Amino acid sequence: MRILITSALPYINGIKHLGNLVGSLLPADVLARFQRQRGHDVLYICATDEHGTPAELAALDAGVPVAEYCLAQHEIQRSIYEAFSISFDEFGRSSSADNHQLTQAFYHRLDDCGMIEERTVQQLYSPADGRFLPDRYVIGTCPHCGYTGARGDQCESCTSVIDPTELIEPRSAISGSGDLEIRSTRHLYLRQSLLEGEIGRWIDQHDDWPVLVTSIARKWLTEGVRDRSITRDLSWGIPVDRPGFENKVFYVWFDAPIAYIATTKTLTDRDPSRGDWKSWWYDADDVTYYQFMAKDNVPFHTITFPATLLGTGEPWKLVDELKGFNWLTFYGGKFSTSQQRGIFMDAALREFPSDYWRYWLLANAPESSDSVFTFARFVEQTNKDLAHTLGNFVNRTIRFCAQHFGQQIPSGGTMTDVEREMIASLEALVSEYREHMEKLEFRKAMAALRSIWVLGNGYLTTAAPWTAIKSDRERAAAIVRTALNFIRLCALLSWPVIPDASETILAAFGAAGGVPLWPEDLGAALTEGAGEPFELLPPLFEVSDHDRVEELTLRYGGSDEAEPDAQL
Ligand code: 2FM
Ligand code: ZN
Repeated sequence: MRILITSALPYINGIKHLGNLVGSLLPADVLARFQRQRGHDVLYICATDEHGTPAELAALDAGVPVAEYCLAQHEIQRSIYEAFSISFDEFGRSSSADNHQLTQAFYHRLDDCGMIEERTVQQLYSPADGRFLPDRYVIGTCPHCGYTGARGDQCESCTSVIDPTELIEPRSAISGSGDLEIRSTRHLYLRQSLLEGEIGRWIDQHDDWPVLVTSIARKWLTEGVRDRSITRDLSWGIPVDRPGFENKVFYVWFDAPIAYIATTKTLTDRDPSRGDWKSWWYDADDVTYYQFMAKDNVPFHTITFPATLLGTGEPWKLVDELKGFNWLTFYGGKFSTSQQRGIFMDAALREFPSDYWRYWLLANAPESSDSVFTFARFVEQTNKDLAHTLGNFVNRTIRFCAQHFGQQIPSGGTMTDVEREMIASLEALVSEYREHMEKLEFRKAMAALRSIWVLGNGYLTTAAPWTAIKSDRERAAAIVRTALNFIRLCALLSWPVIPDASETILAAFGAAGGVPLWPEDLGAALTEGAGEPFELLPPLFEVSDHDRVEELTLRYGGSDEAEPDAQL
């Protein structure tokens, strides 16, 4: 079985926050790593989402040409994801030549199939700017909630999707001019209403998706799948190859998901050993396709992107498993890019190593409901699980062994009932962990992983080699060997989640690097290795104290009063 994984494409405008990380990139990376470990052929694809008004407006703000802005921002995002150990097979750009070609090819095919219609629509025009103002180029008062900073695509305050012409007292986001006219213009519509039945039947087949996902998809279906405009009056984007559309480009939400496919092509053209791009996407029944995204992206992935694919009448790959997430909140409020509220990925890395974030975010993934980030929670849980449980287990085992047996896995002694019982518990926990990972239940998977660390640490405490060594050196040797092997197992099993710490441990035991394979026979894994050398390790995780929590809370503008539930 081949496994294809995509994360929703992060917008190019600015560094992403922790909510973006946990809502798409991180869980996708964990699944990709886990499935590679399980021996599957995995392709994990992502890219920057570079078109549309967010990019143009951000470039305008920064005072640089939009192409230049996107190139620089792509590189900034790429390096941050690398620092977070996000293991893309390819991290591309929606503005790539491959995506230009493929988007245009989809458009032509849809047009040939009678799925495209030209319509005349009324749109806001700004004489002061000499142009039409699509989407975010218009700011005004939200007709639903009265928020005065609402943008022409969506109100940030109440999340209603708006048409720019509905805004009260609209003004241009470029010049600020309120002197706007409504003028007629032509746009292309994708006739996705024709596919309502087909999309509905396809969604009905997926009762295994999270309720969050199917309920959003069904809501859109019930309200009726409306045809949608797929062109915009912008200059930055993918040109529309049609007479009369010389000054227009495709709408960002038309070309962005196609970039999943185009980015695969970029990869396989460069590295043909990864197979032919089309074999991953077309007539690809042997491929299981997983998508990861936050809930606001669900309609685009359950209705509109499938409409693009189905509308061609060709056997393009549709998503098999769609994992949608709720919101991570910052002290109960919204993480916000426009207001720079919350913790952004670059700042996060300046405060703690990426493993701490990866573990905490997955352990608290907003799966069945929103979840709350506070520094108090973050520090309490990483102290407890990473430093006091896993770190403590690793460091005290290695120290004890080095002191009494030297820096090699001791030989001698045999297993007793203590070990046999522990192995039975371990087998149950590892199956639980594997099953939760397979089902994309990340919180539950992290609970099982944590229980594995607790089991190892508890085994060492109960078996107490420091007592055995006084009277029975063989017994102490067997315990230490088992515990050292358990540490290696922890490193293998934890690798999808905390790859840096795992690789540090595995390297100390002489592992070569690369993808560490999943341990199949746990009993055997716990008895092997006598005589093999290992390196000493510094403490793997640091403990943070209360003062640090206070300082961080203050610096990042969190407020403990807003914390709805201080208990973990
Ligand atoms: O909401 C967002 O951040 C979008 N940039 C996601 C795009 S996903 C896709 F389909 F390309
Ligand atoms: Zn509103």
